[in-house]
Amino acid sequence: MGKIILTGDRPTGRLHIGHYVGSLRRRVELQNSGAFEKIFIMIADAQALTDNADNPEKVRQNIIEVALDYMAAGLDPEKSTLFIQSQVSELTELSFYYQNLVTVQRLQRNPTVKAEIQMRGFSDDASDNRAGTPVGFFCYPISQAADITAFKATTVPVGEDQEPMIEQAREIVRKFNSTYAPVLVEPEVMLPDNAACMRLPGTDGKAKMSKSLGNCIYLSDPEDTVTTKVKGMFTDPLHLQVSDPGHVEGNTVFTYLDAFCRPEHFGKFRDCFIGKKASFSFDSLDEVKAQYRAGGLGDMMVKNFLAAVLNDTLEPIRARRAELEKDLPYVYDVLRKGSEKARAVAAATLSEVKKAMKINYFDTEVLSSLIAGQKQ
Ligand code: TRP
Repeated sequence: MGKIILTGDRPTGRLHIGHYVGSLRRRVELQNSGAFEKIFIMIADAQALTDNADNPEKVRQNIIEVALDYMAAGLDPEKSTLFIQSQVSELTELSFYYQNLVTVQRLQRNPTVKAEIQMRGFSDDASDNRAGTPVGFFCYPISQAADITAFKATTVPVGEDQEPMIEQAREIVRKFNSTYAPVLVEPEVMLPDNAACMRLPGTDGKAKMSKSLGNCIYLSDPEDTVTTKVKGMFTDPLHLQVSDPGHVEGNTVFTYLDAFCRPEHFGKFRDCFIGKKASFSFDSLDEVKAQYRAGGLGDMMVKNFLAAVLNDTLEPIRARRAELEKDLPYVYDVLRKGSEKARAVAAATLSEVKKAMKINYFDTEVLSSLIAGQKQ
């Protein structure tokens, strides 16, 4: 059987370069590798609503932003099915049945959900009915298992923070298959292969790039915005003078270079390292790092190089986005058709699930045997 991908993002904002190196770039490579029989890319609006119930407009506005980012980054509707989660109602039905296979205690142990509950400041005071954790939010790992299994996905390319979700989905699959019938497929997580891409820090050096922290570089940021953001980036606080030895580890500018820099960038942007006081000629990132550690290489030069590298990567994405923005009806049409296609696949899985769970009373043979059995 061929391999199948399912993955997606919550539409709570435009996608940033953390999404890009954490998952999106890989998806495009996998799509173009031809190694997958089917690829489903989902805009997880229903999941976004689990902690944005009072802000549906935000979720709605960001569906098109995420779709534009997807297609601009190279996801091709001819090769990948792009769809909207809420338009595939079979997913909520599957979630409802999977809820019986997961305990509250198991959900409470999910480290990502735990961290997210804390980050969002949901209160655990039972009398505080408004500020507590929404049940839908608490259960989103179950709904995510439905997303994955509805498409019989074998492979889920995601960032590191999503690993516990895939683990939980695997448990649900095993439980379902052993309780009812071997209908579901156990998915595998596919994480970024480069440590810098696992969790790209924000421009301020904070552990995570996140819209609420205001430390993002967006895929759609114009060139000068990217350059300004890079110039303001956190580096090595001990590297006060250019001549001081610098630290590369924990230095966000170098983390970004680890994630984005390619061999051809050294030839292309050699000029970035030519200065009034000092000039260098580097052929690899290791050489840049060695010079930075030794001292003499200023932050400004490295930042100029990073800005050039980022803009080089983002330019074709921006150009495609600008083209797509001129034809929004086409982009919505892609989503509509993708959602219809996804729905048919999810419906087929749902009917296998209902059969395995013996809740397919009105299937012809089932109905006649139920009647025959009752008469005896
Ligand atoms: N939780 C993912 C995110 O935060 C989005 C998502 C929803 C997802 N369902 C999924 C990812 C299924 C992979 C597989 O972006």
